[in-house]
Amino acid sequence: MQDDPRIRIAARTVDRRRPTLWYKDAIIYQTHVRAFFDSNNDGVGDFPGLTEKLDYIEDLGVSAIWLLPFFPSPLKDDGYDISDYCAVNPAYGTLDDFRTFVEAAHARGLRVLIELVVNHTSDQHPWFQRARRAPKGSPERDFYVWSETGHEYDEARIIFIDSEISNWTWDPIAKAYFWHRFYSHQPDLNFDNPLVIREVKNILNFWLDLGVDGFRLDAVPYLIEREGTDGENVPETHRVLKMIRAEVERRNPDCVLLAEANQMPKDTLPYFGNGDECHMAFHFPLMPRMFIAVAQEDSTPIIEVVESTMRLPENCQWAIFLRNHDELTLEMVTEDERDYMWQFYATHRRLRINLGIRRRLATLLDGDCRRIELLNSLLFSMPGTPVLYYGDEIGMGDNPFLGDRDVVRTPMQWSADSNAGFSKADTVALYLPPVMDPLFGYQAVNVEVQKKIRSSLLNWMRWVIRVRNAHQAFGRGDFRFLHPENRKVLAYLRCFGEETILCVANLSETMQAVQLDLSDLAGCIPIDLFGGCLMPVIEAAPYPLTLGGHAFYWLRLLSPEEARSRSDNPQEAMDRPELPAKDRIQGQRPSG
Ligand code: GLC
Repeated sequence: MQDDPRIRIAARTVDRRRPTLWYKDAIIYQTHVRAFFDSNNDGVGDFPGLTEKLDYIEDLGVSAIWLLPFFPSPLKDDGYDISDYCAVNPAYGTLDDFRTFVEAAHARGLRVLIELVVNHTSDQHPWFQRARRAPKGSPERDFYVWSETGHEYDEARIIFIDSEISNWTWDPIAKAYFWHRFYSHQPDLNFDNPLVIREVKNILNFWLDLGVDGFRLDAVPYLIEREGTDGENVPETHRVLKMIRAEVERRNPDCVLLAEANQMPKDTLPYFGNGDECHMAFHFPLMPRMFIAVAQEDSTPIIEVVESTMRLPENCQWAIFLRNHDELTLEMVTEDERDYMWQFYATHRRLRINLGIRRRLATLLDGDCRRIELLNSLLFSMPGTPVLYYGDEIGMGDNPFLGDRDVVRTPMQWSADSNAGFSKADTVALYLPPVMDPLFGYQAVNVEVQKKIRSSLLNWMRWVIRVRNAHQAFGRGDFRFLHPENRKVLAYLRCFGEETILCVANLSETMQAVQLDLSDLAGCIPIDLFGGCLMPVIEAAPYPLTLGGHAFYWLRLLSPEEARSRSDNPQEAMDRPELPAKDRIQGQRPSG
């Protein structure tokens, strides 16, 4: 594989000397080591398995991989309950396996982001075991947040409302209550203790030395608690984040910090600081509003939220996502919006958890390819870096009969072979069963089959990603909404340098006509980024377009001079990527 010239070219793109803002052009693929591929057939995915499947991830066209926690852990919260920050959970391999994985990813030009989960540890972490036995008021005890009464900070909400009744839990060994924003086996670290800060720096440096390119900062709004507040976004939190940023920058100026701050727009923006805290933050405010807009066939929810979250420091970027490993959170929408979302997307109580919906993208959208493609077109063209959850590129299903959020964490569906081609272990040994229902199960939905079918979701995703990657305007461009009268149509411009791209999406199930005010672009000629079709020239009068149900267009606007000089060769298109011969159905023509 090392002889493959593509790999040599890609390897050169990872330049570790100076900040490149690479994350602005990136597409991030989120996966869990244990869910991806099991190389030793013990039923659990592992680093060698993930390394084996890097060809698949590279072929998708993404540029970075974000790994869910893979550290030693009692796994009561799927690894977000960490008992050792500087090691690999033996079930997933060794530190050497991790090193090999990072090297192999880098050789392909793929960056690696990992989790920094330091709001809390597992109660099995040696720091907690030591703290609960240490004298009151000692630095060891004060690694965590304690109370004699369990009444402090009572304005802080409970996040896991389906399983917890308080943010305080009595510890019989310490003979005191300890503070936890999540499960009661996850005591919160005390960021007022300088020794905790020192440990966080050690963790960062440990993984930076192993070559990681970024950290997702888990649950950052809750790092610090203060009386008289709701314990979220407390100003001192930003001092901690600036410290983390400085530490990371000192070691690797190209390393990226991605905040998980599930907050209202005005409270999410401060996580960027003045460009000196997190480089990226998940666009939690936008995510549910994309689903609401499609359900209501109305662009307003998207326009309102994007317009209120446009002003970011130069070096910062939103991370946009549709689904992830958690429930589709509805914490930060109004009660009416939440009820609407529940009624529309999760009528059965089993599909809900806490204040959210535990389903994957394909099941949320009833397997409707047109809506899946439409939402992905928004994911890949709205302002920000797209984050794609493993399996959603093939329309993988979920299993609502599993506990907690395991519903959406089942093995990757590689083929119709036993255990979805994920593992050759006995099914009983699998960490979770693969999805087996007739619509979304592995016999119907899997990589092997979708590779062969030219029009499959997988091949469509490869195509869209290829088109996005060819135009920096999507990652870095300015953003401007057009405001057509027909609110079922969402239209916006992405502009970067000489390039202007017009994106138009029909949120409705049926055909729509729309008139766009493009008078300032009169004389330009739109050209379709997928097929290269030239459209009629834009004039001062409103530009008419019609779109089929749930259709979308990405049109580059050629200036009159450009259009003239290209008239011999209007094919600026990015054709559908060809299927390699080995993936083609026998006897099929190369171009389908
Ligand atoms: C984050 C993670 C979630 C986890 C929680 C507590 O929100 O995304 O999976 O349960 O933190 O660690």
